[in-house]
Amino acid sequence: MTTVDKLPAPEELKGKNPRHILKFALQQYDQVALSFSGAEDVVLIDMAVNIRPDVTVFTIDTGRLHSETYEFIDTVRKHYNLKIQILSPEKLTLQAFVSKKGLFSFYEDGHKECCGIRKVDVLRDYLKTVEAWITGQRKDQSVETRSELAEVEIDQNFSTSDHELVKFNPLANWTSQQVWDYITAYQVPFNKLHSQGFRSIGCAPCSRPTNPGQHEREGRWWWEESAHKECGLHHK
Ligand code: ADX
Ligand code: SF4
Repeated sequence: MTTVDKLPAPEELKGKNPRHILKFALQQYDQVALSFSGAEDVVLIDMAVNIRPDVTVFTIDTGRLHSETYEFIDTVRKHYNLKIQILSPEKLTLQAFVSKKGLFSFYEDGHKECCGIRKVDVLRDYLKTVEAWITGQRKDQSVETRSELAEVEIDQNFSTSDHELVKFNPLANWTSQQVWDYITAYQVPFNKLHSQGFRSIGCAPCSRPTNPGQHEREGRWWWEESAHKECGLHHK
């Protein structure tokens, strides 16, 4: 059976709760991995360890995360007794890039090149090794790019003619409030930066706290005008 043959009918997961979607993903696919960015994804880890205690979890260490995020990744590792796969950018490409353009080129010519090397290329390589991956994306994270987010989809960014990849978004229909209600109710560990006003957390030079009236994505790459605030993991 191919990866795509194992996909449910489109209606089967529509509107279902995160645990139901996660259970389907973890039971249907052997080679499935949960992506963890050191923020709210830990809600999915909390649910997943009860379904499949040996769940594969990975995080991309861009080399530019806040120290609080590194501490948090380690807290989660210990809390759930997990072996988290920590992925790094390709050394020679990164070395050539920062030697040529310095460590803050994204403030001058945009974040795409740096995100490409530090995140997207790393993810592309990793995803060649799995049939399906699971993300913590939600529709309400971005009106422009995520409002149509499906619970399950063929990954349009990383599928190739040789390797079709399935992507699950179990939190697609949850709001930020529901995520935080879960974190509070189940005493799930969270990144300390959330207590300092950060809502969407990426790399340190590219994330900042937001005011209550702002959308959470406004704290990411704030020097760029576009509403299309994506690093390339989910949209080109
Ligand atoms: S991003 O594309 O803007 O960086 P965002 O921070 O909204 O992504 O996170 C959305 C989802 O992408 C996370 O829930 C997680 O599934 C995945 N993700 C983002 N950053 C990483 C990372 N560094 N490592 C692994 N997964 C990540
Ligand atoms: Fe580079 Fe910023 Fe993208 Fe991180 S978020 S990979 S530092 S441009």
